[in-house]
Amino acid sequence: LADIALAVNGELDRLLSVPACAEARVLEAMHYATMNGGKRIRPYLVVMSARMFQVASPHAYRVAASLEMLHSYSLVHDDLPAMDNSDLRRGRPTTHRCYDDATAILAGDGLLTKSLALLADPATHPKAEVRCALIAALGAAAGERGMVGGQMIDLMSENATLDLEAITYLQDLKTGAIIRYAAESGAILGERPDAERAALSAYARALGLAFQIVDDVLDAEGDSHLTGKPTGADASAGKATFVSLLGVEGAKAKAKEMGAEAYRQLERFGSQADPLRWMIEYVLTRRS
Ligand code: IPE
Ligand code: IPE
Ligand code: MG
Ligand code: MG
Ligand code: MG
Repeated sequence: LADIALAVNGELDRLLSVPACAEARVLEAMHYATMNGGKRIRPYLVVMSARMFQVASPHAYRVAASLEMLHSYSLVHDDLPAMDNSDLRRGRPTTHRCYDDATAILAGDGLLTKSLALLADPATHPKAEVRCALIAALGAAAGERGMVGGQMIDLMSENATLDLEAITYLQDLKTGAIIRYAAESGAILGERPDAERAALSAYARALGLAFQIVDDVLDAEGDSHLTGKPTGADASAGKATFVSLLGVEGAKAKAKEMGAEAYRQLERFGSQADPLRWMIEYVLTRRS
């Protein structure tokens, strides 16, 4: 993960360089929002799934950088006063606290649109069909039936009690859709049959649920110095999470169950899927 983070950071820094121009403020905010010590879990999934299918690594790293821009945008908007109203992200002031709300909104918009433009560039893959498939999949994962839809339910669910099915649906959209895209992108780049893409998607569905459950547990009992964001925020906002429904111990048990399910979904792949297996262990034991 550290090696991939280093490489994707280099790619991101290059793609987000700030030339002297009248609009430099928004470019600086985009750079600030992205180059700030994210764990780069989604890039890891992109690069490792692409490696399974011998995809050339410059292609994988462009897809990884594009996805991390989109993810960073989602965090910038998630932290805005109108949403989670958070002052701390990745151990630093959030983008709207460092700049202002309007600049943060524009920086998020800029990262979202740039992530799609990057995929459309022939440097991402020589075949236009592959580039279109990536854009279609990312657009769907990030949009109203994916991350955006999940964020909507998340906000509407404040101070409501959701049952297990409803929380699973919420988290599947909010966090899961992007993580599924990350794992599937290797199969798209490698032009693999639908069945392999579906298996990666099923793995990432379980992984994504485990990931968000652990995020909720860390909000409840983690260390803000390690997570780089406030703790206790979900409870004070009255968020519906696995922790609010099942308690911390119940949520941890559910995360483990999801981890086991993620392992099962990789059974059809041999040792070439080991890096995806390591990510399950990482997600279940992470403290940041
Ligand atoms: C945080 O994601 C947002 C969620 C979907 C829970 P990460 O925990 O991957 O955040 P960074 O990118 O490492 O900061
Ligand atoms: C937001 O979930 C996930 C996104 C789609 C941005 P959270 O609101 O739980 O993420 P954190 O805890 O602020 O990182
Ligand atoms: Mg949120
Ligand atoms: Mg939040
Ligand atoms: Mg959270």
